[in-house]
Amino acid sequence: MPEPIIIAPSILSADFARLGDEIEAIDAAGADWIHCDVMDGHFVPNISFGLDVIKAIRPLSAKAFDVHLMIAPADPYLEAFAKAGADVITVHAEAGPHLDRSLQAIRAFGKRAGVAICPATSEQALAHVLDRLDLILVMSVNPGFGGQSFIRSQLEKIRRVRAMIGDRPIRLEVDGGVNVETAAAVVAAGADTIVAGSSVFRGATPEAYRDNIAAIKAAAEAGRRR
Ligand code: DX5
Ligand code: ZN
Repeated sequence: MPEPIIIAPSILSADFARLGDEIEAIDAAGADWIHCDVMDGHFVPNISFGLDVIKAIRPLSAKAFDVHLMIAPADPYLEAFAKAGADVITVHAEAGPHLDRSLQAIRAFGKRAGVAICPATSEQALAHVLDRLDLILVMSVNPGFGGQSFIRSQLEKIRRVRAMIGDRPIRLEVDGGVNVETAAAVVAAGADTIVAGSSVFRGATPEAYRDNIAAIKAAAEAGRRR
């Protein structure tokens, strides 16, 4: 039996003026994980939110907090994100020279360790750290902004990463431009964890969130049957 598909709405597309309500709404609407995009204006050309925001929203949901760090350096902040309530902490392979050390640190803080790779980065960046990983995140847009179009060349990379994982207990997450149109192809290529920002928060009501998550999940499950 393959692992169940996880849908992780990215709160980057939430209404930040009502962030607490938005977290509670996506939790009730069927989100499996809460994906938190942390951006520093240095590793990526945008600034989002950081530790204090994650700390503030942590009590609002019992779902796993999937923290995607688009920051360089990441190492000085790993302990603080662990303490702020992250369950999964993902660093970018491109963000620092000592990926192996970053992953060891995340696990030492008792958290699940992830590595993200940008569209231009080869899956070979993962080859020597597979045994330190709980999650691989393949970026299907260039990180920094929600609402961009899915880069189709990443489907082949997803297939290669799936083959690299073999029977290791590593989740394969895809982030960027995933919606009802692209979810099936992503899952057919081997992903089991889907980040979706704009396609979940479209409509801006709790009812719309429920419908959007259900539609993305159904499309993803259809991809499994391909
Ligand atoms: C992009 C972020 C994504 C983003 C996804 O840098 O890592 O998580 O919010 O947004 P959509 O689903 O709108 O592409
Ligand atoms: Zn993300």
